[in-house]
Order: sequence, then structure tokens, then C-alpha cells
Amino acid sequence: MSSADLPRYPELLDQLPNHPKTWLITGVAGFIGSNLLEHLLKLDQRVVGLDNFATGHQHNLDEAQSLVTPEQWARFQFIDGDIRNLDDCARACEGVDYVLHQAALGSVPRSLNDPITTNAANITGFLNMLVAARDAGVKSFTYAASSSTYGDHPALPKVEENIGKPLSPYAVTKYVNELYAEVFARSYGFKAIGLRYFNVFGKRQDPNGAYAAVIPKWTAAMVRGEDVFINGDGDTSRDFCFIENAVQANLLAATAEDSAKNEVYNVAVGDRTSLNDLFAALKSALAENGVVYDKAPVHRNFRPGDVRHSQADIGKAAVKLGYVPEFRIREGIARAMPWYLEH
Ligand SMILES: NC(=O)c1ccc[n+]([C@@H]2O[C@H](COP(=O)([O-])OP(=O)(O)OC[C@H]3O[C@@H](n4cnc5c(N)ncnc54)[C@H](O)[C@@H]3O)[C@@H](O)[C@H]2O)c1
Repeated sequence: MSSADLPRYPELLDQLPNHPKTWLITGVAGFIGSNLLEHLLKLDQRVVGLDNFATGHQHNLDEAQSLVTPEQWARFQFIDGDIRNLDDCARACEGVDYVLHQAALGSVPRSLNDPITTNAANITGFLNMLVAARDAGVKSFTYAASSSTYGDHPALPKVEENIGKPLSPYAVTKYVNELYAEVFARSYGFKAIGLRYFNVFGKRQDPNGAYAAVIPKWTAAMVRGEDVFINGDGDTSRDFCFIENAVQANLLAATAEDSAKNEVYNVAVGDRTSLNDLFAALKSALAENGVVYDKAPVHRNFRPGDVRHSQADIGKAAVKLGYVPEFRIREGIARAMPWYLEH
């Protein structure tokens, strides 16, 4: 066991403000990126952000700004740039201690409709960031991997070592990220950590567009009184992970001991919630906020490329990173609901 086998997050939150570092967040205008930005600025860190607004929004940055002090916001430098461009990556990595690489094109269906654009951002962009971070000599490189890498492997819960075949172009790109990170470790002694996120949700996750994630999409439909579509019988299950847990995993990973690096970790809660149960949970959370949704869900075909069941074993992250998720799905939904209703 590493010395990180006790929760070290509270201690880290205490220490960081006294020892400010420079962090690069790629995809900073997106859902996870803008939440990382808000947390790091509140901890008095210096942050460089890179985004091309492919799926991110200026309003996410504006909202983060409204939640920190002017002094904290002055420690943020934004670069409007593209990870497909190596020069933009190199500029962003200058003088950076910790990289949190979040920029990518998410969504399984998007990757099935347009595998080339997904590949360019998720693989070429990833490789550019690895090269730029290696050349800048950063202290650590933490990147957004994905539970989609488990593909068709039937075992539950998912353990990092056992993966199946990818079920979508998106899953291929996220697996290739892990392979590149491993090869950079072997070839250049570069130390990266991959965080396999499992269905992260929370404030600033985009409810709009064809590729929206299930929680913001369904909540928006319920608030508008529109139909909610369940792909398949509703028994499909996921390990929904509230954003605060994902933020914790990033901060722990970036600052982890070297012995915890050059690894991938599941980032989730360890629970499994079916889509039918999710529907009921969102409906009741809305009712608690005075919004009554009385329609039954509409079932339609299963979606191609989707994994049937997903549930993480989070033991490795607990032992090697000291990760202890603070929020289970219902607590996360309760916290996120006021934001969904306001937006
Ligand atoms: N949200 C989840 O449940 C989940 C699950 C698994 C993995 N991930 C991964 O986490 C990361 C963040 O996801 P998110 O949910 O915040 O998505 P998001 O779409 O809200 O954020 C991604 C950000 O990356 C930016 N971006 C995309 N292509 C870019 C490019 N070429 N150059 C610069 N910026 C670019 C987008 O504009 C956006 O701001 C992604 O890598 C995603 O694949 C997310």
C-alpha cells in the first residue's frame, strides 16, 4: 500500500493555497474544465486555460468568474486555441506545473456520425498535448480517459486491468490515449495519469444539442414538459459520478507521488443505477423543487455503441490516490438541481 492509503484530499485543500502552482486546464470552457477552473481559482492557484469552443461555452467561463473574487480571476489566463495545433499546445504548456487535459470531443453517437473529427481532437490533439507537456517539463500530466474503454468486457464491477473490445470510435480514441501515455512513459520517462471517468454530471453540463448527456438532457425535457426517451428497456445501468468527485480525483492525481503515476484509475462512486431508476430519481428531485412531471418515459431502440452495464471498482484510486468520493448519485442530483432549474 502506498502512503496515500488514507484520504489526503482535505490536507491537499489546506496546503494548496499556501503553495500556489500553475495549472493548465485544456477544455476549460467545457463542463468538467470549467468546474476544475472554479475550484482551482478558489484555492488561489494560477490557471492557464485552453479551449476552441467546439463544445464549450463562454458562459461557462463567465459563470466561473462570477463565483470567484476579482483577485482570483486575475490569476486566470485564457488561450483561445486548438489542441490540434501543436503551437497552441506548446504556448499553453509554458511555465506550467500540472496539466489537466480535458479537451476532447465527447459522445459515442457523435463519434459514430463523424469519426474523423473525433479522431483529430481526441488522438492528434492528445498526442500534441503529450509532446508539448513533455517538452515543457511539466511536473505531471493528468488526462480524461473514459469508462468506454471497458467496451464489451462483461465483468462487473469494472477493474482497471480487464478491458474488452471498444464499441465505438470514441472508445477507440480514449483507449489510444492510454496507449500513448504508456508509450511516452516507456520511451521518455514521462509520467501521466489517466482518469477513466464514469458518466460525470453536475452544473454546467450542457443540456442542449443532439449529443447532450442523459442527466441534463432528461432534466431539461422534464422541466419543459417534453417527452423523455429511454433508449432500450431502461435496465441499462451506469455508475453516475457527481462532478465534485471528479474534481477531487484530478487534484489528487496531479499531485500524486511518482509511484501512483503512469497508471489509469476509475473515477466513479462504485454504485450502479439503471436508466429507469435515474428517471424516477430525477422526477422526485424535481418534485422536491416544486416541478411536477407526470408523463411516462417513452422507450425506443437501444443506441448503437452503448455499453449495457457499467459500474466501477474504485479500490485502486482509493488506495493509490487516496480518492474517497464524497457524493453519491442522489446527493449529486440534489445539489445540481437548483442549477438545472435556473438554467
Ligand atoms: N462528462 C463525462 O461523463 C465524461 C465521461 C468520460 C470521459 N469524459 C471526458 O472528459 C473530458 C471533458 O468532458 P466534458 O464532459 O467536460 O465535455 P465538454 O464537451 O463540456 O468539454 C470539452 C471541452 O473541450 C473543448 N475542445 C474540444 N475540442 C477541442 C480542441 N480541438 N481544442 C481545444 N479545445 C477543444 C470543448 O470546446 C469543450 O470546452 C473529455 O475528454 C471527455 O471525453 C467525460
